Amino acid sequence: MQATSRPLALIVLAAGAGTRMNSDLPKPLHPLGAAPLVAHTIAAGTALEPARLIVITGHGAEQVEATLQDIAPEAVTVRQSPQLGTGHAVLQAAEALDGFDGDAMVLYGDSPFFTPETLQAMRIARNAHDVVMLGFRPDDPGRYGRLVMDGDALQKIVEYKDADADERAITFCNSGVLCADAGTLMGLLKQITNDNASGEYYLTDVPELANKAGLTATAIACDPSETIGINSRAELVRAEAQFQAQRRAELVDAGVTMQAPDTVHFALDTHIGRDAVIEPYVVFGPDVSVESGAQIRAFSHLEGCHVSAGAVVGPYARLRPGAEIGNNAKIGNFVEVKAAEISEGAKVNHLSYIGDAFVGERANIGAGTVTCNYDGFMKHRTTIGADAFIGSDTMLVAPVTVGIEAMTASGSTITDHIPNGALAISRAKQVNKTGLAVKLRNRLKAIKAAKSKD
Ligand code: UD1
Ligand code: CA
Repeated sequence: MQATSRPLALIVLAAGAGTRMNSDLPKPLHPLGAAPLVAHTIAAGTALEPARLIVITGHGAEQVEATLQDIAPEAVTVRQSPQLGTGHAVLQAAEALDGFDGDAMVLYGDSPFFTPETLQAMRIARNAHDVVMLGFRPDDPGRYGRLVMDGDALQKIVEYKDADADERAITFCNSGVLCADAGTLMGLLKQITNDNASGEYYLTDVPELANKAGLTATAIACDPSETIGINSRAELVRAEAQFQAQRRAELVDAGVTMQAPDTVHFALDTHIGRDAVIEPYVVFGPDVSVESGAQIRAFSHLEGCHVSAGAVVGPYARLRPGAEIGNNAKIGNFVEVKAAEISEGAKVNHLSYIGDAFVGERANIGAGTVTCNYDGFMKHRTTIGADAFIGSDTMLVAPVTVGIEAMTASGSTITDHIPNGALAISRAKQVNKTGLAVKLRNRLKAIKAAKSKD
């Protein structure tokens, strides 16, 4: 592909009401692959390294803008109110484009599947045409806008509502994605009217206006699977299946070992290294990276964490945000780790909660250990030194520090610092009462027998 040197501004439309979602949550924020829909659009668009990112908000603007602060702090948001159509929406970007010299590309906050490759192909097509639209040929053209072509030239776009029978017979449809010089686009948009069946300002009037102005327009085609827009819950459910299928296939191609990829769920930003093993029924929430050669065993749930090479996690493990699992560390069944670093070679093999903690290299955490990190008001830290041995059923009441090579006796409740190399025992002393168990059993048996006669 020939590169293009013109700077790029992305304009993402995310103002629409999304009525058919039947939801209080604005449509661009509905989750797909554990990320808001609009994050998918932005991820594809920002792969083209745009100089500016402009998002048009409207319905639920405050909530959408707050999320954008998190996922794309570089985005400039512009409110569109009222929402008078896609052409009107793009025109709202005029001020944010002030002083910008380059191409503008229009994307949609509810169309998450456009690939960077397709968007890049539009930029290349711009080398030969003033306006480039992205088209597709669906099995059922339904109510999509129709692209009226003459060879390579795009004469105009006709919205379904405004189309005559001949135009409705056209099978080349409008995805909505547009690329044009930003200044040219804004100039053309100022000419559009709402004189059409919907009474809206259509972005789709741009190609015809370009032709009238002596400019050229074209449309390139992409696979229909890229153009899927989300308008309803049912479409969102189908989109999730499509997203998961694509991610599974990509990761298999990238060298990840999976016995049953169809049972594994990924997030938009899941990163998994080559030769990592992901067993069946593993769920990845947002912000997880798993290094090459790590092993995530069946039925584990991970979010906001990093698993280093050679580490083994699960089966049935839960890694929560801030879990940092070192090289060759082991996190076993029914272990929960949150905001804690488990250093190289350390083991937490069974039934434990490790939160707000540091576990040193090669430390061994016995079954049933709990870092008691919360006093009902504040969180406190536990620090466990390298090569420490924490006996089973130890309660570590934070804030507390266990020294290097220190040990705790099983069943201890640790509230004080343990020096390096010390053994802490903190439990009641054992007393054996000879014959008392037999006596007690006989007494209880007698009571029960008396009761059943009543
Ligand atoms: C649009 C195209 C149509 C194309 C179809 C592909 C127009 C006039 N028609 O139709 O040719 O086949 O997409 O899906 O562009 N939006 C705003 N502000 C507005 C109006 C819309 O931000 O004032 C946003 C919506 O949130 C949505 C997107 O623009 O994300 C598309 O708007 P929508 O009304 O759904 O357009 P379609 O009727 O689907
Ligand atoms: Ca739509």
